[in-house]
Amino acid sequence: MKSFSIRLEHKSSRVLFPDTLHSYDTLNNGSGLARNGSPSALLVFDENTQSLFPPTQYPYYVLPAGEQFKNSDSLLKLAEWALSLGASRETTFIAVGGGVVCDITAFLASMYMRGGPVILVPTTLLAMVDAALGGKTGIDFQGYKNILGSFHPAEEIRVFPEVLQSLPESEYLSGLGEVIKHALLRDSELLELLQNRKSDIDRRDPKVLEEIIFKSQLVKQWYIEQDPYDQDIRGHLNLGHTFAHALESISGFSEWSHGQAVAWGIGRAMHLGLVLGLTSQEYADQVSALLHMYGYRLNPVPQDAELLLSAMQKDKKKKDGQVRFILQSGHGCTSYQTASSEAVLQSLRT
Ligand SMILES: NC(=O)c1ccc[n+]([C@@H]2O[C@H](COP(=O)([O-])OP(=O)(O)OC[C@H]3O[C@@H](n4cnc5c(N)ncnc54)[C@H](O)[C@@H]3O)[C@@H](O)[C@H]2O)c1
Repeated sequence: MKSFSIRLEHKSSRVLFPDTLHSYDTLNNGSGLARNGSPSALLVFDENTQSLFPPTQYPYYVLPAGEQFKNSDSLLKLAEWALSLGASRETTFIAVGGGVVCDITAFLASMYMRGGPVILVPTTLLAMVDAALGGKTGIDFQGYKNILGSFHPAEEIRVFPEVLQSLPESEYLSGLGEVIKHALLRDSELLELLQNRKSDIDRRDPKVLEEIIFKSQLVKQWYIEQDPYDQDIRGHLNLGHTFAHALESISGFSEWSHGQAVAWGIGRAMHLGLVLGLTSQEYADQVSALLHMYGYRLNPVPQDAELLLSAMQKDKKKKDGQVRFILQSGHGCTSYQTASSEAVLQSLRT
């Protein structure tokens, strides 16, 4: 079985690719009760993820699907449910779902009786390569994303690429945007796979999927281990995100999926790099060709340029009052940069 560990300051998370779907909810202690008589495990699904796995012997809760349920209401309902079943600090919470289920369940685990174990079973490509790794948990609050949250790494992340066969195409593309981002940041072999194995990736060939997921996770692992609390270099994982967040906010978080907005944002980051004389034309062309090949929209948006600029100026990731862009001069060469309003407008218009 393929596996590796992510070392965080006080703890390690183990990432595993188990051989059989049946092991998704396995615990070392096989019985249904922990030593103190509380349930050994409680599972959280959403309405689309329960049917992906064999039935569980443990109690489970099914959340409605979607980002709009990643909120305090769902969190409190889960806490009430766990308490009513006598869950204790020895109970392991097991999240089975996309980033929403993983984020909310890990947040609950971090707070329930001041924190207990959590296992994540990510079921979207985005959650496998991104949301389930690195210990960030959270819920949205009063219309703002991830306002309440904690750092609480999972004991284990169990990855079953075969469950991706049922993922809607737009969600698949959304996760693929993050895989492409990881390839651009640090992995030329992953980049080659994306360039050369498109038809296998499109038809979700299980072997190729496992390979791109594994490689993509190793890129995120590297950043997490360099900067566990996201103080500096881990921010490079936000390549494309300053543009993407602005686009999502002006389009009301509906028209563009997050991953598609990120892909568009990476394209714009290449343009800004060109405007600033930082990015080589050859690299920018190579990145655009790859994004284009996977069908992402990359178009300039002259009509919305001013609106996007003002949305970026409200971005919460500012430092010393300045918007910071993550740009690349070439493959694997990433840095924070500031840019004048004129340069940003130019990168949005051309
Ligand atoms: N904690 C982190 O570091 C981190 C990083 C990135 C994103 N996130 C969070 O992740 C969330 C987005 O995650 P997501 O894109 O996985 O969205 P999601 O969890 O909403 O899942 C997308 C949709 O796919 C469905 N689904 C899940 N697995 C399926 C499968 N195998 N087959 C069919 N349908 C399936 C879900 O029910 C849902 O409707 C956001 O809330 C974001 O903030 C967190």
